[in-house]
Amino acid sequence: MKIPNKNPMIRFWNLDEETIFLNHGSYGATPKIVLEEQNRWRKIVEKDPVKFYEDIAPKALLEARKAIADFVKCDYDDLALIENATSGVNTVLRSLDFSINDEILIPNHAYQACRNTVDYVAKKTGAKVITCDIPFPIDNEQIIIERIMNCVTERTKLALIDTVTSPTGIKMPFEELVNLLEEKGVMVLLDAAHGIGMIPLNLEKIGASFTTSNCHKWLCAPKGSAFLHVRKDLQKSIHPLTISHGMTIPLDGTSRFRHEFDWTGTRDISAWCVIPFVISETSKMVGMKWEEIMAHNNNLVIDARKYICEKLDIIPPCPDNMLSSIATIKLNFEDFTKLSIHEPDSIHLELLEEYNIQVPVWYWPNPEGRYIRISAQIYNHLDEYKYLASVLENVCKN
Ligand SMILES: Cc1ncc(COP(=O)(O)O)c(C=O)c1O
Repeated sequence: MKIPNKNPMIRFWNLDEETIFLNHGSYGATPKIVLEEQNRWRKIVEKDPVKFYEDIAPKALLEARKAIADFVKCDYDDLALIENATSGVNTVLRSLDFSINDEILIPNHAYQACRNTVDYVAKKTGAKVITCDIPFPIDNEQIIIERIMNCVTERTKLALIDTVTSPTGIKMPFEELVNLLEEKGVMVLLDAAHGIGMIPLNLEKIGASFTTSNCHKWLCAPKGSAFLHVRKDLQKSIHPLTISHGMTIPLDGTSRFRHEFDWTGTRDISAWCVIPFVISETSKMVGMKWEEIMAHNNNLVIDARKYICEKLDIIPPCPDNMLSSIATIKLNFEDFTKLSIHEPDSIHLELLEEYNIQVPVWYWPNPEGRYIRISAQIYNHLDEYKYLASVLENVCKN
């Protein structure tokens, strides 16, 4: 089989030239110039760590919050820099007071680590977890809205809603859901792990109680960079997972939220310091505005999914308008093993080991089967998905 053409943009990344990398969605991938910039920051730290943490860092982190706020349209003082979306979800769920009378609503397509956090908090507090079943394949967004709103009771305290679901790659109607849920007095924790840099976000307009998003996924920032946005009226009840000096520092006009989140102990903060650089320079590097990058990736995944589905005679499981830059397809495989999320699927391994294709394949229970999730990033080429389709044609036959 002919090895596919690569997008010339791939030269800006360190990705292995031999691998057909179709999984930006899991951990992101960071351009070379961003990693160089991160190293430049690390050198600044080591030149004088005291000067860095006491003088340079507060200004750099303020610039990082300002750059994110400008990107996702919110007040930079409502943002906390955190390491990843998992810690954002934990921060919120473990700060709030739940009781035996409360319900936490979560769709069955939620990311398993976040589901675990909900279960952990519910077990500790006696709150009840209500799982909302969303069908897949799915014809339209209205089904999601109806299913979720039907699960709301007067006890529902919080709903964990994804912007884009991880196992099934569906773009949720999150703007409308936040609106409807918050209007009913339900706090929404928006899991926008697939958010900034992937889909347009206007946090002020969306109005969720809490939003967490990874910068290391679709913004291509270094690993360990994410944010948590907390609406002003709720900031008093949210505390970082690590309590540090911020709890007792005199307020001097700054909020406790700011003090507590701005210092959670000594750590490498270079991934946050480079965020303004990431936003301006990645876009310049590829010669596109961020809106163009997002549109490009969305179009590419639509074309790629269409090609694969046609080639393998599969009906696409959701309409194109429910796609972002990832797409999940159920493979035509009668043979599958019920695997837990922690066990590698044999097809995933075969694709990687025999064909150098890095793409996730997993078991999903409803309907039961093997699913593949493709990602599209600016460094990908349609030929790579065509190659995947031809390989799958062979693999699925065997
Ligand atoms: C929907 C969703 N939420 C949360 C996460 C967790 O992200 P992280 O590992 O960066 O915390 C992921 C990761 O893929 C995700 O897809």
